[in-house]
Parts: sequence; structure tokens; C-alpha cells
Amino acid sequence: MALTFKKLHPLYGVEIGGVDVTRPVDARTFGQIRAAFEEHSVVLFRDQPMDDTKQIAFSELFGPLEISGSANPGVGTPFARQSNLDIKSGETIPVDDWRMIYQKANYLWHSDSSFKRVPSLCSLLSGRICPPSGGNTELTCMRAGYRVLPDSLKNKIETLVAEHALSHSRDRVEPGILSAAQKAELPAVRQGMVRVNPINFRKALYVGAHAGAIEGWNQDDGRGLIDELIERATIEDHRISHAWREGDIIVWDNRAVVHRATAYDTVKHKRLMQRTTVGGNESTLPR
Ligand SMILES: [Fe+2]
Repeated sequence: MALTFKKLHPLYGVEIGGVDVTRPVDARTFGQIRAAFEEHSVVLFRDQPMDDTKQIAFSELFGPLEISGSANPGVGTPFARQSNLDIKSGETIPVDDWRMIYQKANYLWHSDSSFKRVPSLCSLLSGRICPPSGGNTELTCMRAGYRVLPDSLKNKIETLVAEHALSHSRDRVEPGILSAAQKAELPAVRQGMVRVNPINFRKALYVGAHAGAIEGWNQDDGRGLIDELIERATIEDHRISHAWREGDIIVWDNRAVVHRATAYDTVKHKRLMQRTTVGGNESTLPR
């Protein structure tokens, strides 16, 4: 059966049909999926009832997977669990529990794993249990985010280096929520502010909530520019807001989009999303 392609947004994003990605995908079909990913940055598949084994098999077609660190309940596995359900008991986690406060940083625009020296290629998020309303994932096209910048700003950021750390995004929500050991696990890293796709050479702005400083700038000016760039890039016209259905799986290109979670009623409703993250293979800085 031939693949079908439906645009999600005038600028980016595509829904692919005509394939069951819960079963082994042949090389020719995956070639088409990978090409769509490079071109459109966001790829949605619907009606794909995933379990963990199937999600790992599909994700690994994109490359080796990252292993979750100690701040996520999926620690030591390829899964970054996004949920209001306790991983052992399945019971709803109280709103004032640190695990729920910790997840609030996901409401900020970010690129997954930008706090790693070699940041991720892409994330795959599957909807396992979805609330009847709320809990959308919003995405923003950072190629457009780069394009709309005035030339003076494009030139300015071309050679700048931003400092990214998991603690920068967590401190924006709840200062000190990460322990000293968790901070030591992930020391700050240096990232370029513009990422170029190695296949089609399209440029994307590379900033988000994990970026907390600019090398050689004072703290306020650096943070001010980072926040200004995020604001310019994440305008309504660049956004997709995805309302999840169980069985959806989205692959997004962390080099070319930022994303954020949105609120839902965590007391009344259950939500379980499983994320796998495919590691990158190159630094964002020039060799
Ligand atoms: Fe994320």
C-alpha cells in the first residue's frame, strides 16, 4: 500500500498514512518516512497502538536511543515518561508532588536534550492514555523562527554560543528542584544558536528553555536575547497545536522545532505519554 501525505500546517508538518509502524517497516518505506521527516520536521501517524517494544523498534530506525537520566521516572531506560500516573501503582500523582512540579518545565518552549553536548536528533512521542480535553502538544517551526528575524539579528546570532543546562529550564519553574547530584549529572554545555540541516542545508533557530546564558555576555543581556528570540519564533502563525488521540505517534525534529506541553486536569483525568529520543551525531558548534 502506498503512503499518503497530508500537510498539518502551511509551513511544516505532515501526517503519513498507509503504513503500520507498530510492525517492522521495510527499508524502502522507511526511506520515504525519513525523507518526509527531513523535509517537514514533524511527522504524525494515527491509529498506531504502541507498546514499549514496538516503539523502541520503530524509534531505532532513526538511530540509537538516548537513555533517561535520574530526573525522569523512566531512568535507565530509553523512555522519558510524561504522565500524572505513578509508574508503579498507576495511581494519580498529587498536584503538589515534586514529580508534577518538575513536569511544569515542559510548558516552556524547548528542544529535547539541548542540554547534552551532542543534542538529540528527534523525539517520538506516543499517546498511550489521553485526557478527553487539554494536554495538547504545541510545536513551533524554528526554520520560520529563523527566517522572520531581521538580518542584523541573524548576523548577530550566527557566531554566538548559548549555554544550555537542564537546571536552567527547571529553575525557571521551581528554583532548586534539581538536587546537586542531578545537576552534576548534566553540566552546562555550549550550543550554537543556528542549526543547519546537513541534508537540505535549511537553517533553524536553536534556542529554548534549557538555554540560560550567552557566552561572553552578562547574565541579563544573554537571557534577554534568548527570551526575545523565543518570543519572535513562537508566534501563533508558526505553531501546530496537536490534540492527542490514543494511538497517535509524532516524530519531531529537535534540530528544527521547539515544543511545549499544555495543561489538563491532572486530578480528574489520566494521561500517559511515552517518549523515546534519538541521539544526534554531531555538535551544533563548528568543527
Ligand atoms: Fe519535551
